[in-house]
Amino acid sequence: MAFFFEEPSHTFDEYLLIPGYTSADCIPANVSLQTPVVRYNKKAGEKCPLTMNIPMVSAVMQSVSNDKLAIALAKEGGISFIYGSQTIADQAAMIAHVKTYKAGFVSSDTNIRPDHTLTELVERIKQTGHSTVAVTENGEHNGKLVGIITERDFRLSHCSPDAKVSEYMTPLKDLVMAKVGITLEEANELIWKNKINQLPVVDDAGRLQYLVFRKDYATHEEHPLELLDDKKRYIVGAGINTRDYMERVPALLDAGVDIMTLDSSEGFTEWQSRALKDIHSKWPQAKVGAGNVVDAEGFRFLADAGADFVKIGIGGGSICITREQKGIGRGQATATIEVARARDEYYKETGIYIPICSDGGIVHDYHITLALAMGADFVMLGRYFARFDESPTNKLIVNGNYVKEYWGEGSNRARNWQRYDLGGAKKMAFEEGVDSYVPYAGSLHDNVQMTTSKISHTMCNCGAVTIPELQQKAKITLVSPASIREGGAHDVVVKNTSIRAE
Ligand code: IMP
Repeated sequence: MAFFFEEPSHTFDEYLLIPGYTSADCIPANVSLQTPVVRYNKKAGEKCPLTMNIPMVSAVMQSVSNDKLAIALAKEGGISFIYGSQTIADQAAMIAHVKTYKAGFVSSDTNIRPDHTLTELVERIKQTGHSTVAVTENGEHNGKLVGIITERDFRLSHCSPDAKVSEYMTPLKDLVMAKVGITLEEANELIWKNKINQLPVVDDAGRLQYLVFRKDYATHEEHPLELLDDKKRYIVGAGINTRDYMERVPALLDAGVDIMTLDSSEGFTEWQSRALKDIHSKWPQAKVGAGNVVDAEGFRFLADAGADFVKIGIGGGSICITREQKGIGRGQATATIEVARARDEYYKETGIYIPICSDGGIVHDYHITLALAMGADFVMLGRYFARFDESPTNKLIVNGNYVKEYWGEGSNRARNWQRYDLGGAKKMAFEEGVDSYVPYAGSLHDNVQMTTSKISHTMCNCGAVTIPELQQKAKITLVSPASIREGGAHDVVVKNTSIRAE
């Protein structure tokens, strides 16, 4: 006879946190959101080999996680999983771009020679929007440096249009320069000591490699939680599938990927255990998460198969229609609670702690805090990140409002049928996701700062300054439909709903 879960499953919307005692030192400034990402032997006192500084990762989706978003999120302390529904070469190139990106070190994008005219220079400045231009012998952006020219060095109206760049640039002999290998802190020291606005960084042959700008260092200081590897490169993740991993994984590892996850709508499968075993035996250093599952049995299966973390969630994503199409899934909160209990039992039995990630269905910022309180170590978000400047999709105006496009990996638009493939002969492909718009919300930095601030405040209300402490101390209550209504503004006419943040 079929097994029945007699209790209905619940979503985050149906829960609230009840405050605990808050001591005087339990303040947001003292909160650490650091969290483990991969399995480790906690009982033996091992340190987790990969942690994040905020408990947020971006979804393995074409409309969410590319190299640009990965850099922006790593600056805030989280990890992006760059989408795998692209060619191996394209995905590896995105990973390589994140790993070679050096915060504060900018590659010149304007090609100017000393014999170019000021009119040509102004044309290039218009094209790139950058008013400081490195002048190189051959005009290539990494050619031998001969000078620097900025918009402030000349007034076109007072010069002959044929005047040469060489007449107005600051020549090499008057430039302060640095050699490759200089750190950002050292570059910044030179900039301040010499009262300059930019510092060219050259190789031994005098070829231009980077420019460091005074303003960029200020940006760098805004990101005290940035997530770097031991070579000071940004940490980045990637989605993989159970089909081409023997080719994809080595290419991603070569490009420098730090963490991968099997990306599938349903992870309690022989395909995932085979992939985990094959990858770990061929590349023992590779870290691979797996999923998605929604119960203890699914968790145990992936834990035994060697998953480095386990992702939870079926059918709860904002663009997801899996439940309608196939009738599988479970309320995200119930799934998270049950998997967290299974994870804790696994730890008691084995001493191994396997981080779990609640994936999909986060609508309000407090849903993240609830997921953490219920035992998740971090959450994966699609819709949330799709709204920002850094996401890969178009920003459009629809009905007078700025929106960004957001489509599911199971939509016709993504054509990522592999994610839903169960092997064997193909039956008819059907959609499990929709193509949609989400309201445009500005920069990733501003939004993540606001979200993590709210999480920290709520944690303090619960008397916790770390995520493990929250998980221990949280008091969580189910709420009735009437009390959900009571929780919003009610029985008043709200003046301006559009300015209310989520
Ligand atoms: P969101 O944060 O609620 O938008 O959910 C994002 C999550 O939805 C992703 O991390 C995936 O687990 C899941 N997902 C992505 N695309 C699809 C789809 O087309 N159908 C069903 N689930 C999807």
